[in-house]
Amino acid sequence: MNTEFQINLSKTFSTSLINWYEINKRDLPWRDTNNPYVIWLSEIILQQTRVQQGLPYFNKFLKTFPDIEAFANASEQDILKLWQGLGYYSRARNMLVCAKEVVNEHNGQFPPDFNQLLKLKGIGKYTAAAIASFSFKQTVPVLDGNVFRVLSRIYGIENDISETSSHKVFWNKAESLIPHQTPDKFNQAIMEFGALQCVPKSPNCNGCAFKTHCFAYKHGLQDVLPVKKKKVKKKIRHFNYFVIVHDDKVLVKERKTKDIWKGMYDFLLLETPDEQGFDQLMVNQAKFLSDLGNIVTSSSNFKHILTHQTIFAKFFVFSIDSRKDFGVIKRKFDLEEVETIALDTLPISRLMDKYLKKETNYLT
Ligand code: ADE
Repeated sequence: MNTEFQINLSKTFSTSLINWYEINKRDLPWRDTNNPYVIWLSEIILQQTRVQQGLPYFNKFLKTFPDIEAFANASEQDILKLWQGLGYYSRARNMLVCAKEVVNEHNGQFPPDFNQLLKLKGIGKYTAAAIASFSFKQTVPVLDGNVFRVLSRIYGIENDISETSSHKVFWNKAESLIPHQTPDKFNQAIMEFGALQCVPKSPNCNGCAFKTHCFAYKHGLQDVLPVKKKKVKKKIRHFNYFVIVHDDKVLVKERKTKDIWKGMYDFLLLETPDEQGFDQLMVNQAKFLSDLGNIVTSSSNFKHILTHQTIFAKFFVFSIDSRKDFGVIKRKFDLEEVETIALDTLPISRLMDKYLKKETNYLT
């Protein structure tokens, strides 16, 4: 691309983008404020899900914890329960650590600086830039999937966005465009433009203000840019759950190891390297259980897809007649006893929720 053209485009790009934003932006609750707590909350949620799905979570969190002190005083279980369904639960646990850091080490105020924000738990470059620019008007660019897409298409940046080494190229480009007077507007605008107009599939190029300047449009490369080569390799896992019930009680276990869903609850779990039928499973825990209680039902197969792993799960319900045996199992496997109808009050994975809703009547 010729340099003169690039310079002219840079000058008009920011202004045109902000104009576009003022006309087209969605009315969203975290845009009416520069309160860093509200911005932090919304940005962490929005890294996990889309705006429409994120809105009810945002409202729920803000209602329950109106400020950072309230958040910092919550229990991990409360936070996980509110976060339930968003996935990637370490984000929620990190939020609690971060809130405590802000309250205990920063007098309850988010530090008004990008580099200081970066030191807080769970705050990476993206979140730090969002808070620093939206709340404190610092001139730091936000880079998210939307921004990579817009910049790579308009400016013809062909660096692979799955390589961290490419991020510097995008950072420098964004930094050269962001106006010092209105870094907040520019950052919101470029993300919104990526979310509404310059979308991944079939972007609305005909109605686009940058059509005549856009590298991807001119060269018909909308489907090629941004370049993203690396595909995450997914690990396949096989979960066999034992749902041990006695009257209206069920045995659950808090997940304590460094694995997915830490701090959340599920049932006694036997993970196997491949899919196993019930008879094959009838060794160890399963043998012990089947000696004490009959298997009542065996669930259908559940396939649960996460970012880095795919889980195939089955649930085997054991109904234990004797209160004494129920107690023996509970102690032997270090389980906790809850009323089946109270399962809903515990933080549980979406996989658990799907199973409970589809194949039991526990969640009324
Ligand atoms: N996605 C990430 N951050 C956002 C924001 N502040 N507004 C809309 N969508 C977003």
